[in-house]
Amino acid sequence: MNPAVAEVAWRGADRAGPPAYDVDRVRADFPILSREVRGKPLTFLDSGASAQKPRAVIDAVSAVYEREYANIHRGVHYLSARATELHDEAREKVRAYLNAAETREIVFTRNATEAINLVASSFAARRLREGDEILLTELEHHANIVPWQLAAERAGAAVRAAPVDDDGLVDLEAFEAMLTPRTRMVAFTHISNVLGVVTPAREMTRLAREKGIPVLIDGAQSAVHLDVDVRDLGCDFFAFTGHKLYGPSGIGVLYGKAEHLEAMPPYQGGGDMIEYVTFEKTTFAAPPERFEAGTPNISGAIGLGAAIDYVNALGRDAVAAHERDLLRYATARLSDAPGVRLFGARGEKAGIVSFLQDDVHPHDVGTILDRDGIAVRVGHHCAQPLMDRFGISGTVRASIGLYNTREEIDRLVDSLHHVKEIFG
Ligand code: ALA
Repeated sequence: MNPAVAEVAWRGADRAGPPAYDVDRVRADFPILSREVRGKPLTFLDSGASAQKPRAVIDAVSAVYEREYANIHRGVHYLSARATELHDEAREKVRAYLNAAETREIVFTRNATEAINLVASSFAARRLREGDEILLTELEHHANIVPWQLAAERAGAAVRAAPVDDDGLVDLEAFEAMLTPRTRMVAFTHISNVLGVVTPAREMTRLAREKGIPVLIDGAQSAVHLDVDVRDLGCDFFAFTGHKLYGPSGIGVLYGKAEHLEAMPPYQGGGDMIEYVTFEKTTFAAPPERFEAGTPNISGAIGLGAAIDYVNALGRDAVAAHERDLLRYATARLSDAPGVRLFGARGEKAGIVSFLQDDVHPHDVGTILDRDGIAVRVGHHCAQPLMDRFGISGTVRASIGLYNTREEIDRLVDSLHHVKEIFG
């Protein structure tokens, strides 16, 4: 997809200067955005949890089932070959999106969580000995904590977390000091799912790699908001998920350097990941199939490919510029909203604002916003250690997608006035 999208979504793309981003036209690509919620226009500010889907993705998934569906890698018949071809094309689209060197470095998983678990089990766990350490940061989502804890516990190793300051910025000096001869693995988020803070991922990776320590980057949020280049980042592994990138749910991606994937044992056993099976011994397929046991999410992968096409057609720089404008606007408007205290409002950021309003419980704020048709996420955002760091139990989080508008930010702020009226 889809030159048509690019044509209609841009005005004046061929004139000098940056083309205008026609957000109304973009919104028209997302059928769900025209619905009402509780008698109000839907204001969807929860794309950080899961993004809405453009018609192009919905159609791509339907088209697979209507015309081109069969199991992949298994049949000599036309439809199996065709579905295999579409699945392979989707892998190539992901490779290009991340600027990975080879398609064998792209493993399809269920989600970012499964991608991280795969690395924790098949890569890190084998290297860990008693007394070893895995270094994370205080920003991490539970998906980038618990898999490492499971691997560490089995080996008698420890999980440590580099501190962040009161704005959620990683303390690089402390991070560097925590890279010790015992550190076997470093894993950190590229964008905090709570604060939207962008970590200095390239620099952190360089510091770890200089000491020979492999690095996994959790890109669940950054694959949506940043122009990710895994070779420029220099990381060993990068995990992201399709459903936040306007693709289907149930499809995720692990990028791994070929040299690592080649050396790693399977994560799960089953069909499609073997070379030859006897009851005495089984040999395994090469990556990426070695890590893709069983029938995969065929339509999901193809839908993710369609989502990548959609974003590319809009232009990743243009989307990022639109989102940056909205984030600045939201930060400015929320700073002036009654009783609002922002978290992580300094430094490089993307896509997310987190806040509390007076001492109103985030669930109460979320419920009142919902009555006004506004969807936000409230609570600990699967990042309880970060909540502990700030001494709070949760926040209200508004997260921005490529279809959001300044008017929607205004609605959010107006609704916070309702919260103020109700709670005083
Ligand atoms: N990880 C997703 C979020 O932060 C679900 O909301």
